[in-house]
Amino acid sequence: MDKLIIEGGLPLRGRVRVSGSKNAALPILFASILLDTPVTYSNVPNLRDIHTTLKLLNILGLETSFENGQATVSPGQTLNPEAPYDLVKTMRASVLCLGPLLARLGEGRVALPGGCAIGARPVNLHLTALEKMGARFDLDSGYIAGKTSGLHGAKIVFDQVTVGGTENLLMAAALAEGETILENAAREPEVVDLANFLIACGAKITGHGTPVIKIEGVTSLHGCDYSIMSDRIEAGTYLVAAAMTGGELILDNCPCDAMDAVFSKLREMGLVIDERADGLSVRRGGELTCVDVTTMPYPGFPTDMQAQVMALMCVSSGAGTIRETIFENRFMHVSELVRMGAKIQVSSRNAFVHGVPRLTGAPVMASDLRASASLVVAGLAAHGTTEVQRIYHLDRGYEAMEVKLQSVGARIKRAKE
Ligand code: UD1
Repeated sequence: MDKLIIEGGLPLRGRVRVSGSKNAALPILFASILLDTPVTYSNVPNLRDIHTTLKLLNILGLETSFENGQATVSPGQTLNPEAPYDLVKTMRASVLCLGPLLARLGEGRVALPGGCAIGARPVNLHLTALEKMGARFDLDSGYIAGKTSGLHGAKIVFDQVTVGGTENLLMAAALAEGETILENAAREPEVVDLANFLIACGAKITGHGTPVIKIEGVTSLHGCDYSIMSDRIEAGTYLVAAAMTGGELILDNCPCDAMDAVFSKLREMGLVIDERADGLSVRRGGELTCVDVTTMPYPGFPTDMQAQVMALMCVSSGAGTIRETIFENRFMHVSELVRMGAKIQVSSRNAFVHGVPRLTGAPVMASDLRASASLVVAGLAAHGTTEVQRIYHLDRGYEAMEVKLQSVGARIKRAKE
């Protein structure tokens, strides 16, 4: 297992290119199952979760290739219905093959997902909605086994906003018979990217980006060339890293239109963020101050930026409250930040952060993807050496993080644990 060793305290300066979005690429790659002809994707990040997805597509019977940020997926001879536990346990988003398999094949067997340890993360909303479209499910030896004699359109009102649920249903409905209406749908930019991709393949979808999405099913979908959107969470993480180290970064390829809530919170904390012709520039305006943050579905503040903004608040003046409303167990980075000298108290879904003048390096353990990112940015700003252990989580979601950070002046290296 690898770890990262960081000598903190150096301001980051220079340019960083934001990679393609993991959370947009995963559902879009799974949507390849729906297509009759080959598809080519560009701006695909080179990440563990992407390789897992391509491997899963192979097991399901599709042909794949991936090189230099470009992936090609072609239909194979036959489509297999089963997503095995060995792969699904490493990536929860594997459940996104269920909707496409039911639509294309009439059956799908997907192991109950694992993935990030940030709470129970059930898939009941996906299943209830797919049942409304004519699917039946059994739980069989740890697998969700779904069957249908043909999906039909339905009106679906999600009890709770679910990104993956909205994506699974969008894909299923694209090839179902008749009209599907998704109400209380997720508005995340990654959902919009998936809808735009499906439209480019011949799907009839309107309302994406609003809480009500309408899908008129078509009988077939074809491949196309599609460029995946850039990663707003990776971009946000580098904004935090620049501010935390007192440096200045320019981000290329930043999906600024999708980052209003993050920009606005970071500006409230004292960051100067400028959308310039040559990229997005970020630096501290003066002293940083703690703020209150509540995570919400898009367009609210993303839960995937909560851990990183907490790390930033740890070295800002004053005090602030972070309220996590999306996942019930997403404060596992707190105990590690405290080991670095942070002052944080957790009560239920609230974390109360009191800024300290500086953090000190320590050995810390990464527990999930974004928690790992928060420990890296904390380590970059801390006095002394930080060792972030178990960084396989980071490799699931951040493309070449230590290489990008080295190129802007960080002293960070990968080593074997
Ligand atoms: C996606 C993102 C993840 C992000 C999250 C919220 C991907 C691959 N992952 O995860 O990075 O943190 O959106 O923005 O895109 N829920 C249920 N039942 C369900 C589905 C969800 O109770 O059937 C609950 C979840 O436990 C959670 C909330 O709904 O509390 C939101 O989850 P959801 O939006 O579905 O997250 P994911 O799609 O898993």
